[in-house]
Amino acid sequence: MTSDNTVAMPGPTRVGVIGLGYTGLPLALGLANAGLDVTGYDIDETKLAALRAGHSYLADVRDEDLAVTSGALAVTSDSQVLAEVDTVIVCVPTPTSTDGIPDLQAFHSVFGMLAERLKPGSLIIVQSTVPPGTTAQAATGLGQRLGLTPGEDFFVANAPERINPANAEGWNLENTPKLVGGINEESGLRAQRLLASVCKVVVPVASLEVAETAKVFENTFRLVNIALTYELEALCNGIGISVHDVIDAAETKPYGFLAHRPGPGIGGECIPVDPHFLRSVAAELNVAMPLVDQACQAAEQRPMQVVDRLAELLSDADKSVSASKVLVVGATYKPGVADTRNSPSLEVMSELSRRGAKVSYVDPFVEELQVAGERLERSTWDRSTVSAHDCVVLMTANRQVVERPLWYAAPLVLDTWNLAAAGDGIFHL
Ligand SMILES: NC(=O)c1ccc[n+]([C@@H]2O[C@H](COP(=O)([O-])OP(=O)(O)OC[C@H]3O[C@@H](n4cnc5c(N)ncnc54)[C@H](O)[C@@H]3O)[C@@H](O)[C@H]2O)c1
Repeated sequence: MTSDNTVAMPGPTRVGVIGLGYTGLPLALGLANAGLDVTGYDIDETKLAALRAGHSYLADVRDEDLAVTSGALAVTSDSQVLAEVDTVIVCVPTPTSTDGIPDLQAFHSVFGMLAERLKPGSLIIVQSTVPPGTTAQAATGLGQRLGLTPGEDFFVANAPERINPANAEGWNLENTPKLVGGINEESGLRAQRLLASVCKVVVPVASLEVAETAKVFENTFRLVNIALTYELEALCNGIGISVHDVIDAAETKPYGFLAHRPGPGIGGECIPVDPHFLRSVAAELNVAMPLVDQACQAAEQRPMQVVDRLAELLSDADKSVSASKVLVVGATYKPGVADTRNSPSLEVMSELSRRGAKVSYVDPFVEELQVAGERLERSTWDRSTVSAHDCVVLMTANRQVVERPLWYAAPLVLDTWNLAAAGDGIFHL
């Protein structure tokens, strides 16, 4: 369903985008390029300085695309801007703590600022991923502090981001359908109208909670299916067949099957995080989600399986982890980005170091890396460096590495992504 764009909007809109990261910056640029008056607000002065100097810090945004330099997008760290705009779009981080508890500090601090600055009549759109129920609770709290009624005196919507950074399929802000749920009908309509200026397809949904839950369910679906491939892999290894051959075969079915692959673990800010948002609400409601619980556990354990498999392969070659030089290929959680958040590579490197290995890494996007408080050596990707290591672990399939498959120079390769056929010193999980 596409929004019908028939909602009357009061006067020209001035938009404030809060948080100029992976999701906020592309949205702020998209709205500015659509002709809206946009100010991006962020607390990170380094990012703001880069934007003002015309430098993008995101792989998906080219320097020449920065509307900041053309003057179409203003950026600031002065929260006073929130008193001047009439639409606020919240794009701040919502991670989990290491034990999976939602960390909504940044989100609540934004609502704290809005309690002092929000103009009556404003529209607030939450784009950050949040546990179901969070947007309504924040809106109610804000209304109480301001003495205003959400949905009447100010408007509230949830429109989750579904961006997949550096995806090769061309999905972007413009062509990815945008879910929009409002605290009431008018809030939803106002948010749909604004977002239709940058998203070709806006999908109205029944409520804030439907939008919030759909977003976290999408990523929970991926987590559960990836965890399922870990079980399939163990079975295939037992049978003596390749799990990748099985998934390739299943993928030829033209309907009803969506291929997921067993990699070295799940990283980033979405797939390992969002299922915990479902779990936290399920726990409050006393609803059991054993499938999700088990999938989270399997995902958490996966990097250790990589380390254990490497230890086993080294032992088979009469070597030990503690006496080995290990080259880890890829530090980020996926190819094509500089994002190391929750990356399984970091866990693998940390555990290898803890077990006494001499660990170095290659990654075209990560110049410096601290793991467990120690700075790791960044190696170059050339034949003599690779052959100087006891083994190579292929963790992230960056194009720069895949196009130059120098891993063959190492005596032992653990390939977690099926980049090369097993045999001749190359092993899979
Ligand atoms: N990265 C993704 O692929 C992705 C995809 C879909 C949804 N999301 C969700 O989008 C939200 C933002 O994620 P992101 O990846 O863009 O994060 P990010 O870390 O890349 O960017 C967030 C920005 O917010 C800023 N910030 C932090 N606290 C702030 C505050 N109190 N006031 C103003 N600015 C503040 C940070 O400096 C940073 O620049 C999260 O809820 C995330 O789960 C992310």
